[in-house]
Amino acid sequence: MDRIRVRGGARLRGTIQIGGAKNAALPLMAASLLSNEPLVLTNAPWLADVRFMCDILRSLGVDASYSRGPRIDESGFLTLIGANLTGATADYDLVRKMRASFVILGPLLARTGQAKISLPGGCAIGARPVDFHLRAMEALGAEIALEEGYVMASAPKGLTGGRVVFPFPSVGATENALMAAALAKGETRIENAAREPEIEDLGRCLVAMGAKISGLGSSTIVVEGVTVLHGAEHPVLPDRIETGTYAMATAIAGGDVELLGTSRALISSVADLLEDVGINIRETNAGIAVARNGARPLSVDATTAPYPGFPTDLQAQFMALMATAEGTSLIKETIFENRFMHVPELARMGADIHVEGDTARVKGVARLKGAPVMATDLRASVSLVLAGLAAEGETVVHRVYHLDRGFERLEEKLSNVGADIERLRA
Ligand code: EPZ
Repeated sequence: MDRIRVRGGARLRGTIQIGGAKNAALPLMAASLLSNEPLVLTNAPWLADVRFMCDILRSLGVDASYSRGPRIDESGFLTLIGANLTGATADYDLVRKMRASFVILGPLLARTGQAKISLPGGCAIGARPVDFHLRAMEALGAEIALEEGYVMASAPKGLTGGRVVFPFPSVGATENALMAAALAKGETRIENAAREPEIEDLGRCLVAMGAKISGLGSSTIVVEGVTVLHGAEHPVLPDRIETGTYAMATAIAGGDVELLGTSRALISSVADLLEDVGINIRETNAGIAVARNGARPLSVDATTAPYPGFPTDLQAQFMALMATAEGTSLIKETIFENRFMHVPELARMGADIHVEGDTARVKGVARLKGAPVMATDLRASVSLVLAGLAAEGETVVHRVYHLDRGFERLEEKLSNVGADIERLRA
């Protein structure tokens, strides 16, 4: 298995191109199931999870292909044609490897009247049940049964609009409900909907395909079902988690980096927090410039929350930054029950972190020390790379396949701005 070796100490200077968001691309790809015409997604990231979603869609009969321009740094585009769906079963072997594939439930059910999808099971960061997804499908008239680890969903007469009320603003369940409602008969109201930008992006794409949706970005979304959706071309939203990650890389290493193809609005809660840490963030006409030239980062508390709060997907990266800050920071994780697996690995590098329940108390140290560390999940793995940028000596991050799921060409992007980082091929 590949590893990534980082030698700490270099300040970062230059520009980093931000790609399309993994968490926008995956539901957008699932939307191809809703139409028999081509859906073209531009600014598409070429990530392990995107390749995996292509495989899942192909197993259902979607013609999925990815092409990139002649230059490596040109973003690619996906062409997805759901004209000849051959099946409605996503088997355990596929779904268990990427729980995000559960977001094919809504579109598959809406288009074909049935879906047989393996329950995704938990993952490293939590049990991650799908009860909100299933209740939402039932609210739209589907029959749901659980058989041998599979969700059997059926709506032989098609879905009918209804009222979906989420106990918690679940991102994936909102995406499933939105796509199912787009082809349901009549009006659907989704209440306590998640408000993440990726959901707005999905909604904009569905509207481009002919859906009738209002309230995108708010907690109440109203969908007037239509009978057919046509093809479209849609640019994938820039990745706000990648943006926040490289902003924090610059903060932890020091230096001055311009992040291209993104905006401060995408990471406003994070930008506000980083300014409290003492990081300078400035909008430019190509993106945002992030700088820390001198004073050590200051310790600031953070609590993860649904959008527009501080994103749970940046919690591990922020902890790496606070591990080197001046003072003590309290970081509270409210979304997932087990998202502190980076703590023992950061501790191996000399971080002083004490976890009590859902809160980590991080006492900043002047210098971390490089060490061999183990990636455990996607965002934890990148927090270890960030810690390595500031650590004395060499850090080797093992099991970087976790990282490849959500960060495209990470070591290339960081070495292009001066980091001493390379991938050690197995
Ligand atoms: C999406 O996961 C993201 N994944 C996650 O990013 C992100 O951390 C999460 O939203 C929260 O922002 C994708 O978009 C592909 P949820 P999702 O449903 O949709 C509970 C990454 O690193 N819940 O909003 O699965 C659940 O257990 C990944 O890119 C139920 O109880 O998240 C969790 O505690 C990690 N029942 C909370 O809600 C349900 O039916 C939030 O989950 C659904 C969710």
